Amino acid sequence: MANPTPKPSPTLVLHVILCCWLCSSIVMGATYNVINFGAKSDGKTDSTKAFLNAWAKACASTSSASIYVPRGRFLLRSATFGGQCHNQAITFTIDGTLVAPSDYRVIGSSGKWLQFEGVNGVSIRGGVLDGQGTALWNCKNSGKGNCPTGATTLGFTNSNNVAISGLTSLNSQMFHIVFNGCQNVKLQGVKVMADGNSPNTDGIHVQMSSHVTILNSNIRTGDDCISIGPGTTNLWIENIACGPGHGISIGSLGKDFKEAGVQNVTVKTVTFTGTQNGVRIKTWGRPSNGFVRNVLFQDAIMVNVENPVIIDQNYCPGNKGCPGQASGVKVSDVTYRDIHGTSATQVAVKFDCSSKYPCSGIKLEDVKLTYKNQRAVSSCNHADGASLGSVQPQSCF
Ligand SMILES: *[C@@H]1O[C@H](CO)[C@@H](O)[C@H](O)[C@H]1NC(C)=O
Repeated sequence: MANPTPKPSPTLVLHVILCCWLCSSIVMGATYNVINFGAKSDGKTDSTKAFLNAWAKACASTSSASIYVPRGRFLLRSATFGGQCHNQAITFTIDGTLVAPSDYRVIGSSGKWLQFEGVNGVSIRGGVLDGQGTALWNCKNSGKGNCPTGATTLGFTNSNNVAISGLTSLNSQMFHIVFNGCQNVKLQGVKVMADGNSPNTDGIHVQMSSHVTILNSNIRTGDDCISIGPGTTNLWIENIACGPGHGISIGSLGKDFKEAGVQNVTVKTVTFTGTQNGVRIKTWGRPSNGFVRNVLFQDAIMVNVENPVIIDQNYCPGNKGCPGQASGVKVSDVTYRDIHGTSATQVAVKFDCSSKYPCSGIKLEDVKLTYKNQRAVSSCNHADGASLGSVQPQSCF
């Protein structure tokens, strides 16, 4: 006969419960529910102050803290999360939706909607950010003018150790998510959704930042899926679905004479569907001391993409401020490996480099792009490189 299990004494049970509670509160830190700071989930009441007060509370302590946003819609105006923040481990856990004001003018001239400035160790888990940009795009697309520039939905400036996962950004007025001057950023499972005709709604923009990783994300928008600006180093992008949109773009670069270069960029396993470009490097046709070097584009699938592989160093919109000038941006050591699929135009590979500083060290390795089941072509201007393995269209170096 088995021994009966001894019954634990009530004091032991109490001790265990107390200990668990203590341990978990040390590990989890405090949780600040925005509702307790006056936020309303009705989508109508301005909850900006409540969010900022929850942030201030989390920032006041040095032990890790969580700011919790429950289900529902929370109306927020422009808000900057920064200030004297002593906390280096703040997690926003968002089950609900943050909504921008429906009148685009309220935040449309501020440049930013939700902005983090000079923070360290901020994480965002889940949540939907609804920028309500449709009316502003309509204003811009109508060509009548008099529309504000619009606001970036979510921005991090001069911040380190940022982690974002499971976030959805909808209908941003301008760029969806921007990192400027940041180090050690990890994004994963992010969704960006905006109309294919929405102007300047780049999905994720990175500049003056290093060690940024963007994984497992789905980006459908009206401008670049991911745009890479000056001063980006050690950027890793992997497993992305892009389209509609303008593709993944390094640039535009070289608008200014003095400009930080871009280096060590890896773009891996991306499917481009019906996009204007696949993998692009784009620079202004004007003097600059900028550069792009050590870039790898690998495992891309192109589905009916207008310019699957493109380097365009003669960007000069409206032919203003640059006619007849050569780009100063030096492009070197760019590898295209395992790039497959269909081009929507006959020129599937285009290297239109600077006449003053030709592209060098361009490598094509196992490329197969077709155009309407026919042969596609490639076009080179001032480009020097090599091809390896099977390369179709035949390279033009
Ligand atoms: C770029 O990567 C190389 C090789 O991994 C490394 O040595 C170099 O420091 C990196 N450059 C920058 C600017 O981080």
